[in-house]
Amino acid sequence: MGAFETIIYEKQDGIGYIILNRPEALNAYNIQMRDELYEVLGAIRDDTDVEAVVLKGAGDKAFCAGADLTEFLTAPSPVIARQARFERDVWGLFLSIDKPFIAALHGYVLGSGIEMALCCDIRLASEDARFGLPEPGLGIIPAAGGSQTLPRTIGRAAALEMLLSGRWLTAQEACRLKLVNRVVPRADLLPEAEKLAIKIKSHNRTAVSYAKQAVTRGLDITLAEGLQLEAELGRRLIEVKD
Ligand code: COA
Repeated sequence: MGAFETIIYEKQDGIGYIILNRPEALNAYNIQMRDELYEVLGAIRDDTDVEAVVLKGAGDKAFCAGADLTEFLTAPSPVIARQARFERDVWGLFLSIDKPFIAALHGYVLGSGIEMALCCDIRLASEDARFGLPEPGLGIIPAAGGSQTLPRTIGRAAALEMLLSGRWLTAQEACRLKLVNRVVPRADLLPEAEKLAIKIKSHNRTAVSYAKQAVTRGLDITLAEGLQLEAELGRRLIEVKD
């Protein structure tokens, strides 16, 4: 893996840490970040040493303030700028990885920031976190899966209110809507995310992976199919253990 400019990737005791690292632009998501994220996610998928991942933002003010508006506005046209984002399926890759991802969210969590968090399995927020989807206000719609992942997480009405009105949520509101699992004091955010990752990592890695698959794949199929999937994964787990 090469050196990155827009993210930092660290690995410690089986836990991968992805840090969005453009604090001067509130960690806005640009095309270079897309490419670097794609590379690092591929590496995490293939690296058997990594059993859990924490995703966070650098700096005091934001996890991520959404798509990079300077790039968006200086691109030849909004259509081409958006097209560039579809060329690499970062989000498909993100959602296909069978390892647990924990998002540690602080400050501004906007647009693609929410969408990245929604690709994670568990979301912790600090008390200062603020969540919003500015896309329709800019004449666009989410492009990182948010129109699909948000309603699957908080339900249709709440997702549509956020998306259509552009209303921002406080951390407590996000927690009530189950957009985040828990709200913690700012100083506890990373330690809590780390504690969770260590706890998960202490469990059998195949069981963790299969449990994630059963839940995430199960959400997209019927209950009957889901029960079959669970039985199949359970059988495979016994075989692996034997
Ligand atoms: N893309 C590019 N740069 C961004 C950015 C974005 N999405 N969001 C913030 N920045 C930059 C600002 O331009 C500013 O840069 P500067 O210091 O060179 O002027 C820096 O980050 C700090 O932002 P600033 O606006 O000064 O902070 P603030 O606390 O006053 O306001 C926000 C924070 C998030 C309310 C405001 O920056 C904002 O509305 N950002 C755009 C959010 C957005 O619409 N995202 C797109 C989603 S599709």
